[in-house]
Amino acid sequence: MKTVIEPFRIKMVEPIKLTTREQREALIRKAHHNPFLLRAEDVIIDLLTDSGTSAMSSEGWGAMMRGDESYAGARSWYRFRDTVKDIFGFEQVIPTHQGRAAEHILFSVTVKPGSIVPNNTHFDTTRANIEFVGGKPLDLPCAEADDLDSDYPFKGNMDIAALEALVAEEGPENIPVIMVTVTNNSGGGQPVSMANIRAVSRIARDAGIPFYIDACRFAENSHFIKQREAEFKTTPVIDIAREMFDYADGCTMSAKKDAFGNIGGFLCTNDAALAHQERNILILTEGFPTYGGLAGRDLEAIAVGLREILDEHYLDYRLFSTRYVVEHLRTAGIPVMAPAGGHAVYLDARRFLPHIDSLQYPGQALAVELYIEAGIRAVEIGTVMFGADPHTGEEHPARLELLRLAIPRRVYTQSHMDYVLEAIGRVWERRENIRGMRIIKAPRFLRHFTARFEWV
Ligand code: F0G
Repeated sequence: MKTVIEPFRIKMVEPIKLTTREQREALIRKAHHNPFLLRAEDVIIDLLTDSGTSAMSSEGWGAMMRGDESYAGARSWYRFRDTVKDIFGFEQVIPTHQGRAAEHILFSVTVKPGSIVPNNTHFDTTRANIEFVGGKPLDLPCAEADDLDSDYPFKGNMDIAALEALVAEEGPENIPVIMVTVTNNSGGGQPVSMANIRAVSRIARDAGIPFYIDACRFAENSHFIKQREAEFKTTPVIDIAREMFDYADGCTMSAKKDAFGNIGGFLCTNDAALAHQERNILILTEGFPTYGGLAGRDLEAIAVGLREILDEHYLDYRLFSTRYVVEHLRTAGIPVMAPAGGHAVYLDARRFLPHIDSLQYPGQALAVELYIEAGIRAVEIGTVMFGADPHTGEEHPARLELLRLAIPRRVYTQSHMDYVLEAIGRVWERRENIRGMRIIKAPRFLRHFTARFEWV
């Protein structure tokens, strides 16, 4: 069959409140033209994030009823730990309430003031957690990532030559951790190849530097490897994932992504002494090492989600559904990042609205128009998010002006995506009349969450 169906049936639904264009104009004005400030119930299709927004299965919900809420040594903890060990392969598993808590603990014990932590591209919480302890996060994306149009299959790769040069120049003593984020969220949800992971691992091991994977979307990345790297064409995805982690010394994970969790995360390592230090911080900030900020029922749900995410029929559908949107946009001549990534569609706002200067936030303008047009919520990844220096207040255009439409897992159907495509098409038709925006009020740090905007 040519038609790729959603490989699940829907047995519980959450009604969507429909609104009129006039209502949405008033609602977005009240939200100061910042979609983060809307009430979620006033959104028709919510593509703000794929994090914690996925639909759990009947197995997942069933497992929650089994949750053992004992403070220490609960059954649910062992189920969670054994599942993580089986897939990720690390000796030490430390549960956290979400990904950024794992990052915070890892960097608290490994990063010193002045240390450099390279990554293909740091996610913003990773970057902020390194800076918080005085380290310097450094992005080393491969050169192919710069061309938004090319079909290069692994635009999430790290620049291997740049990493080698960095290690040679700075010395392993100044680089406590080398990281690779799979898939590369801030770089368009693009995958990292196994060849690239092997190369990073070799450099890290030769230099004696621990290599960590930011594993949030590890299953999507593994499936991309299966589809695009000839060597893995017939390898089960779970074995691809295992091999990927085999090259690493540890990982950080947000179970809100590729574990179908509404909350949760973990930190792994093979270093028992390091894990001991990490657990001491865990007890201080998250909780006892057998629950780490999670309820027993959350541990159960994640244990189920980690198995379900590796179902190859699900992964076929997942990657197809993102590609479906991207290919339709490309056919219509609408500028979008190619090829399709795993969890999100990234509109190229700079080319969508070429008449709007970066300092008038084309991505934000597009976000507002998409909400007004059809009640769709997406997030600007451009000058609003990255353009201001929090210390000087100065603004510079970001490297890319993108609008990210992140697709929650198993939540929306193809007809929802057709609606999204129609809405983007209608905004595209009237793009010349869209105006830029200015900020009327914003905090210094992470301003995109709460900034207030007006049209220029
Ligand atoms: N690393 C990556 C690559 C992420 O995408 C995220 C979260 C985190 C770490 C942090 O995990 O939210 O559980 O603390 N990304 C979400 C997003 C928020 O919308 O992309 P967390």
